[in-house]
Amino acid sequence: MQPISSARRLAGRSNAIRIVDCRLLLGESLFSIIVESQRPMDSDTPIEAVPTREGYDRWADIYDAEDNALIALEEPRVIELLGEVANLDIVDLGAGTGRHAVRLAAAGARVTAVEFSEGMVEKARAKPGADRVRFLLHDLSKPLPLSDASFDRVLSCLVLEHITNLELFFSECRRICRPSGFVLFSAMHPAMMLRGISARFTDPDTGREVRPTSHPHQISDFLMAAVRAGLHLDHISEHAVDEALAARSPRAAKYLGWPMLLMMRFCP
Ligand SMILES: C[S@@+](CC[C@H](N)C(=O)[O-])C[C@H]1O[C@@H](n2cnc3c(N)ncnc32)[C@H](O)[C@@H]1O
Repeated sequence: MQPISSARRLAGRSNAIRIVDCRLLLGESLFSIIVESQRPMDSDTPIEAVPTREGYDRWADIYDAEDNALIALEEPRVIELLGEVANLDIVDLGAGTGRHAVRLAAAGARVTAVEFSEGMVEKARAKPGADRVRFLLHDLSKPLPLSDASFDRVLSCLVLEHITNLELFFSECRRICRPSGFVLFSAMHPAMMLRGISARFTDPDTGREVRPTSHPHQISDFLMAAVRAGLHLDHISEHAVDEALAARSPRAAKYLGWPMLLMMRFCP
């Protein structure tokens, strides 16, 4: 799939442009309130907003079984951008149910998985091969309990929307990355937030849509946090749902052609 230009896509959406204009006029915090209080354009379901950790503790039971178009789009890109991993030291920050961590350990990497949701970690630990992964329960909003320059690859997938202080987090990623290594992030594309979408699931017990707290960062927020942390951009790409993915995933079909995924790779 070809990376697409988000600016070009947004140009045709008057609603998205209005929200961007609001940000310029009203400043960051009011912009956040507007975006976070906005009902998603694609749903009439009532939303239950919960703290991030509580949200993932509740999501854990069904996380791996869901039709998740973002994950379907993301996984091949992570594999491609990480490259060969055998005998490398890799840390997966916000590892969730171990989707990447367990696979990377099976491919011969020495993997540390950092996560603060006990529910997600429990699911990860139950997977075949998880005994090869070192799990750390830790909140990524705090300095990482990991040594300087101790990893060849620092990976954090679909976590950035939950991070408030990007500069602190990026600085920590840089600190633990070896000079010869790199830091790889995947994120829900900020253009999804302009449609009122953030990480969410439907609670099977209540039928309500549950949203762990997310922050509507823009691409410029990511890049400036990286600049301030001393990270150097090596790769950035934006990816939209194509016909093949839309055909495979009912949840993806309504986002056909819209930027859903952002990939960024940085060198220390
Ligand atoms: C969308 S899931 C992604 C999980 C995994 N990286 C993946 O791609 O499958 C986001 C994960 O980030 C974790 N997370 C969010 N904020 C965190 C924080 N402050 N500290 C530790 N983990 C956090 C959540 O608990 C959740 O498991």
